[in-house]
Amino acid sequence: MTKSWKKYILWFAQEHVEFRLAEINSLAKLFKLQLRILSSSNEELLRPFWTVELPDEESALKLASRSISLKCILEHWSDSNNFGDFHSSLKTYLKTNELSQQYFHKDLSFKITVETYNKHFSQKEKVQKIETFDYLPLKGDVNLKDPSVEWWYIEYYGLDPTKVPETPDAILFGRWIADGQRHLIKDLSLKKRKFIGNTSMDAQLSLLMANQALVQSGDIVLDPFVGTGSLLVSAAKFGGFVMGSDIDYMMVHAKCRPSRITQKTREADESIRANLKQYGCEKRYLDVLVSDFSNPIWRDSFKVNSIITDPPYGIREATEKICIKVSDKPDTRNEDSAHYPSTSHYSLQHLYLDLLTFSARHLVIGGRLVCWFPFHRDDYNDGMIPQHECLKLVSNSEQPLSGITSRRLLTYEKVEEYSEDAERSTKGEILEFRPRYFDSGLESRQERRTRRAQLREIGRLEAIKRGKVLDVKDGKYKKVIDE
Ligand SMILES: C[S@@+](CC[C@H](N)C(=O)[O-])C[C@H]1O[C@@H](n2cnc3c(N)ncnc32)[C@H](O)[C@@H]1O
Repeated sequence: MTKSWKKYILWFAQEHVEFRLAEINSLAKLFKLQLRILSSSNEELLRPFWTVELPDEESALKLASRSISLKCILEHWSDSNNFGDFHSSLKTYLKTNELSQQYFHKDLSFKITVETYNKHFSQKEKVQKIETFDYLPLKGDVNLKDPSVEWWYIEYYGLDPTKVPETPDAILFGRWIADGQRHLIKDLSLKKRKFIGNTSMDAQLSLLMANQALVQSGDIVLDPFVGTGSLLVSAAKFGGFVMGSDIDYMMVHAKCRPSRITQKTREADESIRANLKQYGCEKRYLDVLVSDFSNPIWRDSFKVNSIITDPPYGIREATEKICIKVSDKPDTRNEDSAHYPSTSHYSLQHLYLDLLTFSARHLVIGGRLVCWFPFHRDDYNDGMIPQHECLKLVSNSEQPLSGITSRRLLTYEKVEEYSEDAERSTKGEILEFRPRYFDSGLESRQERRTRRAQLREIGRLEAIKRGKVLDVKDGKYKKVIDE
């Protein structure tokens, strides 16, 4: 039982906003942390700053040690939506929280950084804001480069640059504790990866997927539509032993056409293993093999801790399965003839039902399936989401792909042992994505105009969420850079 709670400020990057609640809840589960999210309204969850309660600083450090959405975590010292209450609550904190005094030691250098979100302030105005903290019993030296203690003072002016309020919606003050793991987005960037293809998932999303899957050291992680193995990279980075399979021999063997415009032919040493080696994870590479998912090759006793995958949507890669064609003609082949198996269409409906059944069979109890699910926005309803009696859907977050198409990151947890008669279902029909995707080519001029306007609106809202403002000179949304 937790005796007391401490308040923290989670400061998120305004990117993939829909995914952060699922990530934080997953990490709380991974580290068995008790967590209370105090910023719980829909509007508050869209903000880059959340107030949460955790039992102690160790819990906060654990969250930061894995989170990709988090910029950093601050120990909460005060917050309010008006300056008067903000300062009196900070003074009360200083008086009632004896432990806070340890940070005002003469041997501890310090820094107070001012962040104003969605409103620009000059350096001079920022200094004036710092001066309002003259009641802080600061004793150490100022050190702007490498302070022993760093406080952040934040004024939050909403997300809409076209409606910036006079006074901030929230004023926050906290002590910096730790940064999140956003550096991994750059460290694992596809730009410098040895082997990539046009299906490789960007580092940020694949890291988020590994967190959703609760990958931890020693886990066995499988991607049954492994492609170029981009999802294995992030899982291995978090300690998973990774393996995969794919129907495409050329892809698995890195013999497919290069996707970098600067590259004409594949290098001899490109491979999924080489990618893992590049990031120091080669020891966690188990293997990848060529196999058709519709005809699973695995023994019943084969168990994995997580399945992380991006099944084919039929756009950049075919949704195919091997089939046997019986011909009336006499078979003229001999033992030495090459055999090219026939393929037939693998409908999304069957693919997702197979994926859920496979996961129900081969995941350990508590293990997770994390997969993408593409759809046309007009068709979507919650009933389309595939279900299986042994799997509980724990999160479902949307990522718009265009004005009309989207995909959802679905996370399931195995809650019951598999039995042959366990029910697998989709309440509605999963529609094929490919024809709906290309149908948009047949749209009328009016429809195209509407779609483009919708796209622009999505872009505008996304830019606002990321705290960008429209530059009238070139019509592009840009981040406001403080002086
Ligand atoms: C969206 S891509 C996955 C991309 C992958 N995450 C990567 O890092 O490149 C889907 C993959 O599914 C494979 N695929 C298509 N049909 C399949 C089947 N029946 N069995 C196994 N793999 C299949 C394709 O060859 C393709 O590589």
